[in-house]
Amino acid sequence: MMRCALVITAAALAASKESDTDAAYKRSRLVYEAKKNEPFALIFENPYAEPRELYWIGSGAEPSLMGTVEPGGEFNVNTYEGHAFGWRPPAQSETCTTDELEGTVHAARGMERHVFGEKPRVLDAHARKREQERDDPFEAHFTNRAAYAMRLTDTKNASRTVDVAPGATRIWSVRRGEHYDWTSGDGELLYRSVIEFYDQKKHDFKEELHTALCAEKTPPSEPVRVAEYRDELDGRDLQVEILREEPLIAYLPNWTKPGDCADMEGRALRIGLADAQVFGERNVIADRRAISANLEWSRSNETSITNHLIKRAFKLAENLRSYDVTPGPFQEPLNFIQYAHGGEYRPHCDGVCHRTPYARGGRVATLIHYCRAPEVGGATVFPKARLKVQPQDDSAVLFTYKQSDGYMDDGNTLHTGCLLREGVKQIVTMWMREDVHDGEPWSDFLS
Ligand SMILES: *[C@@H]1O[C@H](CO)[C@@H](O)[C@H](O)[C@H]1NC(C)=O
Ligand SMILES: *[C@@H]1O[C@H](CO)[C@@H](O)[C@H](O)[C@H]1NC(C)=O
Ligand SMILES: *[C@@H]1O[C@H](CO)[C@@H](O)[C@H](O)[C@H]1NC(C)=O
Repeated sequence: MMRCALVITAAALAASKESDTDAAYKRSRLVYEAKKNEPFALIFENPYAEPRELYWIGSGAEPSLMGTVEPGGEFNVNTYEGHAFGWRPPAQSETCTTDELEGTVHAARGMERHVFGEKPRVLDAHARKREQERDDPFEAHFTNRAAYAMRLTDTKNASRTVDVAPGATRIWSVRRGEHYDWTSGDGELLYRSVIEFYDQKKHDFKEELHTALCAEKTPPSEPVRVAEYRDELDGRDLQVEILREEPLIAYLPNWTKPGDCADMEGRALRIGLADAQVFGERNVIADRRAISANLEWSRSNETSITNHLIKRAFKLAENLRSYDVTPGPFQEPLNFIQYAHGGEYRPHCDGVCHRTPYARGGRVATLIHYCRAPEVGGATVFPKARLKVQPQDDSAVLFTYKQSDGYMDDGNTLHTGCLLREGVKQIVTMWMREDVHDGEPWSDFLS
């Protein structure tokens, strides 16, 4: 009897809890409905390198100017659900018609922030509630899996810092979008834990292959030999610092000429930079770790700087490795990437790197232009090859992964973009494929 009563009580409790939650949700819906006609704050963010004018698009004839948002800047407005806003580069003309706007967005409660050029989020009441929950603090476990002590610091609050002994775990209350830095005994930042989504509990620091190479005290690798290279297209004599023969890894000082990088940066900014890395909950990452844009082969201007850079790099690959690579619109677009503080690119191979036979149409080589070198950190390291390239302005690195025996590399071209500690890093990555042409462009060979 007693046991039965207990069961009933527990079930009744569970039921009442259920309906409490429901009631709470209904209440929040009512509150939401009531709030619908109240103004709310919305922040506009300008991700571009040039200012943008922000306009309110009313029912009148002309959009009205609200203000100018500086590059990287923000603009706060108080708005109502459904109101429309637009933006454009400044001083195009005295007046502004909706046709001249570069983009528009409708304000929706719960949006809080809109980044020009990004797809706005549409939230219904239920999604909004979930959104709010996802901002709640939760307890995350930070474990030091290295053999030495590390210091863990909240990047938003430097006084929130703690030593973590080897093997020890610290439990901290965190929120999504926050960053936690792991620094070694000598104060060097070795790893950054990013809270990507609500309830992401496990955050470990472990020594990885690239950790020591990325460390500031590790000097860049010395070349095994330096080759003279005659750049026929530009009539320049360049030096190629061979860091490794096969697979080839070569550093190219002074690879780009003055104006080359500015041209590519300009194109990338006109196209618009978007988040380079997709996280579980992309919208909430407080500061982006990398943004990127694709630069296509120009069909309208055969002698454009982008096309010229592609031709030069392909010539170099042909010369150094006898690759049968043809530049053209059927090759992959270049990728312009900008890293800010704390940005990194985790270890990866650009092509196949498991010693399998080359497959037709696959990538065979990569050339990375270092357009803007970082101040501290941000090296490119090849963990298995144990090589480190410290970028300098206008230099580049070339690595090839199809070997002369027809097989692919077995991991020596695995590389990582080390954590950027100071400054900004801008690179333009180019991939080369054999066996692609107009009839069979690169996109035909995506597995
Ligand atoms: C920063 O962290 C310290 C130590 O945990 C804490 O006492 C302080 O309130 C925090 N400050 C802010 C602004 O959160
Ligand atoms: C690169 O260019 C700079 C200045 O233009 C020059 O001082 C330097 O010697 C060059 N480096 C190499 C390796 O050619
Ligand atoms: C093509 O690009 C080159 C290099 O940027 C430039 O000098 C030239 O004016 C461009 N031609 C046209 C038709 O836009």
